[in-house]
Amino acid sequence: MPETLFTGIAQLMTPAPGPQRGAAMRELTLLKDAALLVRDGVIAWVGPGQDAPQTPRTQDLGGVAVVPGLIDPHTHAVWAGDRLADFEARVEGVPYEEMLARGGGIRSTMRATAAASVEELVNLARPRLEALLQSGATTIEVKSGYGLDFEAEVRMLRAVRELQSLLPATIRPTLLIHVPPTTGRAEYVQAVCTDLIPRAAREELAVAVDVFCEREAFSVEETRAIVAAARAHGLRVKLHADQFHALGGTELACHLEALSVDHLEASGKAQIAALAASDTVATVLPGVTLHLGLPAAPARLLVDAGACVALGTDLNPGSSPLFSAQLALALAVRLNGLTPAEALTASTVNAAAALGLRDRGALAAGQRADFLALHSPDWRDLTYTLGLNPVRDVFVGGQNLKE
Ligand code: NIG
Ligand code: FE
Repeated sequence: MPETLFTGIAQLMTPAPGPQRGAAMRELTLLKDAALLVRDGVIAWVGPGQDAPQTPRTQDLGGVAVVPGLIDPHTHAVWAGDRLADFEARVEGVPYEEMLARGGGIRSTMRATAAASVEELVNLARPRLEALLQSGATTIEVKSGYGLDFEAEVRMLRAVRELQSLLPATIRPTLLIHVPPTTGRAEYVQAVCTDLIPRAAREELAVAVDVFCEREAFSVEETRAIVAAARAHGLRVKLHADQFHALGGTELACHLEALSVDHLEASGKAQIAALAASDTVATVLPGVTLHLGLPAAPARLLVDAGACVALGTDLNPGSSPLFSAQLALALAVRLNGLTPAEALTASTVNAAAALGLRDRGALAAGQRADFLALHSPDWRDLTYTLGLNPVRDVFVGGQNLKE
């Protein structure tokens, strides 16, 4: 795409580049009557329209608000089967964890996913990722974790790789070590460390490893061993922790300088203090709070304590069938007590940091030209609207996906 100056921006709202923590999450820049210059897919200049450099090509956005493309740092978008019977049982009173303990829940999705081919997984996941993209997510993390055995895990990661070639969004693959087998768990953890992780690294199937650290999943000690193997093979680390019980997973993530620790619904003072004292990003997932009726992660307290908070959809069939990054943002304002400005920071630069990325999430010179034009002239519609997409156009590398 030739160098293009985007004009007709009633409001341009952006955090500063790089992760923002504590009160800095509210310190965004709001420019009125702004312009944005894009060259080679990167932002070359941002400022008041009257100061814009002369360029042969301009595109008038028609007087609407512009914000950075959203970053969804936590999804399980590849799965087969469904959890509709689970959902019905759960609303009739059977707890999520009990279903998992009985061999249902995540384990039922594992059975269906293990039976699917790479092609079937791609065809199932593609419309889900397209929905996230339409909702404003220009970078999306996708986890494995529904493979019953290692071959099924590898098929999931191959499906993620194939999806990257089909979609304009950046897709970041994570190997998720989700739940242990019902027998032989010590051998399983060992094989994850000596077989699956080295293979994922060697074949470049994942850039990070995630572990579900929870009573019904992996202990802190098992998590520590898996994380050590991930590190030894040059992979980044993320954890699912404190979803139901604060077992020590958050403290471990902070101690090991993991990129992020996600969920945090059961986090208390000690975990908030650990996150505030570390560079590990605290990722909250309001879709889970809504869908499972769990307590909300203490995002307000985390920001007030000085932590770096991100947010994501956690798109998955069991705990968060939420196909919109914009709706995750809007829910975080209602359920987690973030202000609209904090929620935008959490969904952009901080979500990028949760993926180890610093080249995106802000509208500033040198950042990727991933941005959204809303239907509205007021950026706050992004955080206000429920159930109607306030995003009019999604630009990836300066290219409007509709063109
Ligand atoms: O992030 N809690 C663990 N894993 C997912 C849910 C997966 C599922 O229920 O299928 C989560 O909530
Ligand atoms: Fe998750």
